[in-house]
Amino acid sequence: MKAVILGAAAGGGFPQWNSNAAACNRARSGDPVAPARTQTSLAVSADGEYWFLFNAAPDLRQQIEATPELHPRQGLRSSPITGVVLTGGDVDAVAGLLTLRERQPLTVYATSKVHAILKANPIFDVLAADVVARQAVPLDRPFPLTLADGEPSGLSVEFFAVPGKVPLYLEDQQGTPPIVLGEDTVGIVIDDTRARLFFVPGCAAMIDAVAGRLRGAELVLFDGTLWSDDEMIRAGTGSKSGRRMGHMSLSGPEGTMAAFQSLGVKRKILIHINNSNPVLLGDSSERAELEAMGWEVAHDGMRLHL
Ligand code: MLT
Ligand code: MN
Repeated sequence: MKAVILGAAAGGGFPQWNSNAAACNRARSGDPVAPARTQTSLAVSADGEYWFLFNAAPDLRQQIEATPELHPRQGLRSSPITGVVLTGGDVDAVAGLLTLRERQPLTVYATSKVHAILKANPIFDVLAADVVARQAVPLDRPFPLTLADGEPSGLSVEFFAVPGKVPLYLEDQQGTPPIVLGEDTVGIVIDDTRARLFFVPGCAAMIDAVAGRLRGAELVLFDGTLWSDDEMIRAGTGSKSGRRMGHMSLSGPEGTMAAFQSLGVKRKILIHINNSNPVLLGDSSERAELEAMGWEVAHDGMRLHL
């Protein structure tokens, strides 16, 4: 299995367009210790020929151009991108679908609930129904990813529920949306029969069911949104805690680093990292602490061979 991290940042990217924070300005000025990152997306292939995207970030066009594996290779119009698999309906997971609107055959894989969100947004009808198939993927069952002719791609996915919330644009304006476990937010195991890769870009809490899935895994890409739950409030850049946004944080007794300590995951890589998170800075003490715990921080263009 081959995987390319197309983007490693959370919604907004790094730097975020309207952020004048010191870290964003370091990224903007080209500081090599604070490299810019686009919003989270992963490309995976069993054979190096046909590729599946895991989430379609608003930066998708730029990500495709930066990734030779995803360039057209045949005829006047073609793409190695065979399908797009979604973990949820957040803007940073689905907006890139609009980039794929040039009558290119592909399949969109998501839970029924996420498909219902896309269906309720008529702008996604630019993905013409006669060329773009929409496949509902059930939870807790391996599901094959296929090529345009229906042949197997060599990859299968299994969706599992992780704690999360409805997308921001579907939140009831009154009050805090509940953290739910169901078809709103999923983690995905990607399997080519030789190797397995976990993609979990959003997870609000480490519950036993998720821990059970991850235990002993070879490679996990996991939600690295915030270092501490209140970092955006303390920095004055936002009024929401990580928990309120549906993301667990790295530090603290209930944090991701603590939660993974007993899981025996062989390689752990953070993805979906918010621009407020100091682990994006190669010279921060938080980054050193994280690496001492055996974690890596994903960067755009990072390639994984499993
Ligand atoms: C999130 O991951 O919490 C969302 O992407 C936030 C957003 O919609 O910007
Ligand atoms: Mn997000």
